[in-house]
Amino acid sequence: MTEQNEWSWCPRQARRDLLKFLLSSPLLGTAMAHDEVDALIAEITNPRRATNVMQFQDVARLKLTPEMYNFIADGSDDMKTLRANRAAFDAIEIRARRLIDVSEIDTTIEIFGQQMKTPIILAPVGAQGQMHPDGELASARAAKSRQHVMIASTMTSYSVGQIGAEAPGLTWFQLYPMPDRSVTQQLLAKADAAGARVVVVTIDGPTLGNRESQKAFFRRATGSSRSRLGNMEGIEGKFRVGDPSLTWDYIAWLRDNTDKPIVLKGIVTREDARLCLKYGVDGLVISNHGGRQEESNRGTLESLPEIVAVVDGRFPVLIDGGFRRGTDMLKALALGANAICIGRAYIWGLAAFGQEGVERVLDLLTVELMRIMKYTGTTSIAEIGRSHVQAKDWPAAIGPD
Ligand SMILES: Cc1cc2nc3c(=O)[nH]c(=O)nc-3n(C[C@H](O)[C@H](O)[C@H](O)COP(=O)(O)O)c2cc1C
Repeated sequence: MTEQNEWSWCPRQARRDLLKFLLSSPLLGTAMAHDEVDALIAEITNPRRATNVMQFQDVARLKLTPEMYNFIADGSDDMKTLRANRAAFDAIEIRARRLIDVSEIDTTIEIFGQQMKTPIILAPVGAQGQMHPDGELASARAAKSRQHVMIASTMTSYSVGQIGAEAPGLTWFQLYPMPDRSVTQQLLAKADAAGARVVVVTIDGPTLGNRESQKAFFRRATGSSRSRLGNMEGIEGKFRVGDPSLTWDYIAWLRDNTDKPIVLKGIVTREDARLCLKYGVDGLVISNHGGRQEESNRGTLESLPEIVAVVDGRFPVLIDGGFRRGTDMLKALALGANAICIGRAYIWGLAAFGQEGVERVLDLLTVELMRIMKYTGTTSIAEIGRSHVQAKDWPAAIGPD
């Protein structure tokens, strides 16, 4: 396996010294105490030393080029939606309970007849081959070893067939609508052959978000550093993501072209949740693409209560956007989400350490979720409910039962 970053030519000691110098340089505006730098560099050698997801982001920042790091980290416009995703968690508080037997914690759930070890799912993230040489194969191997579902993007570096072979039974396929429907049919056939169990259609892209750092990234990317698209190979027709003319009729067309459950990713309002019910989709993901599309200033957690109220248990409601801690997950589960998709959280693990990094991220988040379940006295996911959270300005919006 080859290193993909700009440090690869450095002998280890020279690299450490250089990192120390750079990180402690006030010129970079990142003046850190030497012991902090030492601690960070110690993390670099071993994913098991990382104690939370944010440390993987620090390590990834050291390993990736600045353009690649910003391509992953940033959102659109002034990144208000990106920040709103995280801020929404701060607006919800947890109500702990005492003296309940929590010696056994069961985190399993079932969605579309599929048993899952925890409600944590790997969100679709494209171009992972640019983040680590093993790309989606490393993420899929981690998904398999830790028994999590992974949603393979349309825009993966490796093909859905290769990914599905690494995580059999655990792969779902994320579809980007394209103007050329014959290309979509070919993609669905590939996903089917790969054993993908669910089709997740991302519908938040009538146009591309204004991602300024992404533009800089692609300006500099040339030749082999440009993204290879595994699913494009062998496709006849125009492989072009995004169709601004798309309407709800698309669901009927999809139904005729796949026998898999159809989940819409990118729903953020009760109005569109109602239309999901009307047009007969099988589930939805509340998502603003990790703040990479519209600058709405609204976090996904803020959309959750109104959507859960409309769906009323008739199909699974998944959510993503800013999840970095087990407590974040408990808050979403308490507000009615059935499962949580993580994006950057596992991508930082991948960029930092490949498969082992993703595994450690999944382990940390699972342990954190179990810990907060113990504090809330909930021994199963089904027991987590509205009484376990309250809004910061309680008793306004979300009060205890
Ligand atoms: C670098 C990057 C690439 C992404 N690629 C895709 C993609 O190909 N398809 C898709 O539906 N969502 C994509 N997403 C969005 C994620 O699926 C998910 O909605 C988002 O990352 C969740 O927010 P979080 O990163 O804060 O967890 C991407 C996100 C990032 C950060």
